[in-house]
Amino acid sequence: MQLQGKTALITGASRGIGRSIALELARQGIKRLLIVARNRQQLIELAEEIDVLGVEVVPLALDLTQSVAVNIAIAQAWRDNGPIHLLVNCAGVAHQASFLRSPLPLIQEEIALNLLGTYTITRLVARRMAAQKDGTIVNVSSLMGKIAAPTMATYSATKFAILGFTQALRSELAAYNVRVTALLPSLTDTDMVRDLEQFRWVVPTTPEKVALALVAGLHKDAPEILVGYQSHLAVWCHRIAPWLLDFVLRMATPQLSQKSRGDRKLRDDLDSGR
Ligand SMILES: NC(=O)c1ccc[n+]([C@@H]2O[C@H](COP(=O)([O-])OP(=O)(O)OC[C@H]3O[C@@H](n4cnc5c(N)ncnc54)[C@H](OP(=O)(O)O)[C@@H]3O)[C@@H](O)[C@H]2O)c1
Repeated sequence: MQLQGKTALITGASRGIGRSIALELARQGIKRLLIVARNRQQLIELAEEIDVLGVEVVPLALDLTQSVAVNIAIAQAWRDNGPIHLLVNCAGVAHQASFLRSPLPLIQEEIALNLLGTYTITRLVARRMAAQKDGTIVNVSSLMGKIAAPTMATYSATKFAILGFTQALRSELAAYNVRVTALLPSLTDTDMVRDLEQFRWVVPTTPEKVALALVAGLHKDAPEILVGYQSHLAVWCHRIAPWLLDFVLRMATPQLSQKSRGDRKLRDDLDSGR
């Protein structure tokens, strides 16, 4: 995909990977950026940085779990600033807990944003792209969408689902000249992972490197974009020797070191009917 003269909409653009993607697309000479997240102030600050690069920028403060508001805002954004040639679905949330102790509201939050939020905006944009017979959609999954991680069951489930969604859409929308790609970052140094207990031996990458990998993947029209050598190694190992990867994952999982403490608490909870 050529970026010059194009319009892109990026969700999750206020921070982390989405923010770096917005800045990298601006450096690559995209014409216009629509940047979406809930935090209006952070979007305005990013818009000021992008403006300096000579790119038109439209901040859209939106909660992607609110489908009615998203519907109205996207229809208006397309009318005022469309057509949109590139949609990057980057907004996401991750919670870490043993599944047996995961609070239901946190599970629901992950599914509501990572899956339903992505579906809502993709449906609105993809229909319009299909009508104009042109477009590219990037869904941000994760290495955890290929290799599920203990303590991240719901997050992994949403990221596996994003890969299935991407694969299905890729075939469905090809007839409309709409390309659909998945971006699979591995551990990246952003707010999302700051409060998580880290997996052993995993070296975090930077959001800037993820953005560069995306741009390279877009130029090649790659169907899946893996980021960094650790991801390639992990996916390769998963194919050749899944038992080995399972073993390494169990060793690397942070909460296993607290297993006995956790099990005692869980037994107490169950005994007291919680
Ligand atoms: N960091 C990693 O290690 C890693 C690895 C693999 C994949 N990923 C994926 O990469 C994507 C970006 O992650 P990140 O690390 O950059 O996370 P982050 O720094 O926590 O940023 C998350 C972004 O999503 C937005 N967001 C959250 N809830 C939203 C909502 N309800 N409506 C609209 N926007 C919302 C946030 O903005 P507001 O708070 O302003 O709404 C923010 O811009 C996610 O899909 C994540 O799963 C991350």
